[in-house]
Amino acid sequence: MCGIVGYIGHRDAYPVIINGLKRLEYRGYDSAGIALYDGTQIQLAKTKGKVVDLQERASKEITKKGTLGIGHTRWATHGVPNDVNSHPHYSNSGDLVIIHNGIIENYASVKKELINRGYTFKSDTDTEVLVNLIEEIKKEEGVKLGKAVQLALNEVVGAYAIAVFDKNKPDEIVVAKLGSPLAIGVGDNEFFVASDASPFIEFTNNAIYLEDEEMAIIRRGRDVKVRKIGNDKEVKPFIQELQLNIEQIEKGGYDHFMLKEIYEQPSVIKDTYRGRLLADKGIIKLGGLEEYIPKFVNADRIIIVACGTSWHAGLVAEYIFEDLARIPVEVEYASEFRYRNPIITEKDVVIAISQSGETADTLAAIKLAKQKGAFVYGICNVVGSTISRETHSGTYTHAGPEIGVASTKAFTTQITVLTMIALKLAKVKGTISKTDYMMYLRELEMIPAHVEAALKSNDDIEEIAKVFKDATNFLYLGRGYNFPVALEGALKLKEISYIHAEGYPAAEMKHGPIALIDEHMPVVVIAINSDHYGKVVSNIEEIKARKGKIIAVVTEGDTAVKELADYCMEVPKTPETLTPLVTTIPLQLLSYHIAVMLNKNVDQPRNLAKSVTVE
Ligand code: F6R
Repeated sequence: MCGIVGYIGHRDAYPVIINGLKRLEYRGYDSAGIALYDGTQIQLAKTKGKVVDLQERASKEITKKGTLGIGHTRWATHGVPNDVNSHPHYSNSGDLVIIHNGIIENYASVKKELINRGYTFKSDTDTEVLVNLIEEIKKEEGVKLGKAVQLALNEVVGAYAIAVFDKNKPDEIVVAKLGSPLAIGVGDNEFFVASDASPFIEFTNNAIYLEDEEMAIIRRGRDVKVRKIGNDKEVKPFIQELQLNIEQIEKGGYDHFMLKEIYEQPSVIKDTYRGRLLADKGIIKLGGLEEYIPKFVNADRIIIVACGTSWHAGLVAEYIFEDLARIPVEVEYASEFRYRNPIITEKDVVIAISQSGETADTLAAIKLAKQKGAFVYGICNVVGSTISRETHSGTYTHAGPEIGVASTKAFTTQITVLTMIALKLAKVKGTISKTDYMMYLRELEMIPAHVEAALKSNDDIEEIAKVFKDATNFLYLGRGYNFPVALEGALKLKEISYIHAEGYPAAEMKHGPIALIDEHMPVVVIAINSDHYGKVVSNIEEIKARKGKIIAVVTEGDTAVKELADYCMEVPKTPETLTPLVTTIPLQLLSYHIAVMLNKNVDQPRNLAKSVTVE
């Protein structure tokens, strides 16, 4: 959570930092700030609110001049979102200025010690404590900024990506990382610092991703010196060439990133299986998997750990793995898994699913599983992310940057990868017939076209949204493979429209939730052609009998549900195993339109952040 940006070079830092912060707002957007060195002093502006609010304030309060600067967009951890708690933070002397993404857990004791030494604090943040600790060490030990940062970080417990500079030495920025991401863009006589590469992608394709417990001293017009925080060991920085381009991180004519990302699904699902799925030849080849197939095939069980939407993808995978590959699967909320002393052995394979690859709970679950000897496989979208590096092996989803906070294309591409893994294992284990295997490969290749077709109902779904936008509660029901889709549909609605919604397995309705149903309750039922079709039709009858309003997701050509439901959203026919990839599309569009009609901030819903790097 929180986005950080820094610049040192020959350009005006202000526009670089402001545009960079806008691209990082998905990481947090309750306050924003910037500090520039204008040649004689630090110009600092910060405010509660978004980057546009910061721009307004900066226009009134600072000169915006300078070729060295740092900026921050915040998701509050310590201290409510207000002007004072916004970053950057000065040290007491006003010489040092810092931005920070993460949490300093022992800040209270450090703060007490600093107060005893005469320091005063303006904000409630842990970050202001850190910058003053750096200042105190710099003064006490008579060391340079880089060393002071290193010594200070050795005294704190927690997670951080920080950037700090000293107005008396305006030719360097010191950065450090532990548990929060930090990339350094290497340009021509200029350097960029950011939480991900999006703020500097139009300036350079070359980036250094710091590893945990590394820090760097970035020297204007010179170089980047990387070293370990725990000792003085120098590390040779690895400069990576990025595949990202500017179009991928812009809205491309759509009103919102979320809508763009929903519409990107046909092409990104193709990107996910491109070169990995060769249906005609009956081949599935996943680079990260091949070598480890025996681990999966011989595993006692697969444990999937994830959070939120990625957890829902894990639930879909449970059905697919058990059904096709006959391997027992458990799906765990990463946050619960790590705190309940789980039984894990060397015979377990753990799959961690994460779009961002930075989710703190998932990361902690991975570390625990590794400690207990399990083999850990990652499914991440963000290339080079912490989880992709912490796992033993893995597969990228290749969905491209997902900027809308509500996850859409990450979900369908995760399911695509998981389906390919399950099919591959099923083939190796002999738990699938050759005919079925070939059929699934061909059908998986057709999913992008089916998603394209499902998207064609957009206008009809917008009309349905008009009817239900003022409802205060929604129920989402699905069975089998589509139970997790019901959960995901409900989550999408809650997070962007703030309407209360619950997902249930359709058959569970009669064990409690049915009491909620009256003429005011819209019930979204996934009622596609499947083994459960007849049962779901009965559930719909039960809802109708209690005057609930039915919005059904149906298979093209359906007749029975269409007669019963108040509104229908059609999806193309595909084998039941693959249906989550299409049934989720109308649910994404429904929540999108409702949120737009309610004037909600679709891409940046309140209280949320794209990458949850705190526990
Ligand atoms: C929901 C959503 C969140 C994330 C969750 C895990 O739309 O975006 O629920 O799915 O925070 O994030 P990742 O996948 O990055 O680990």
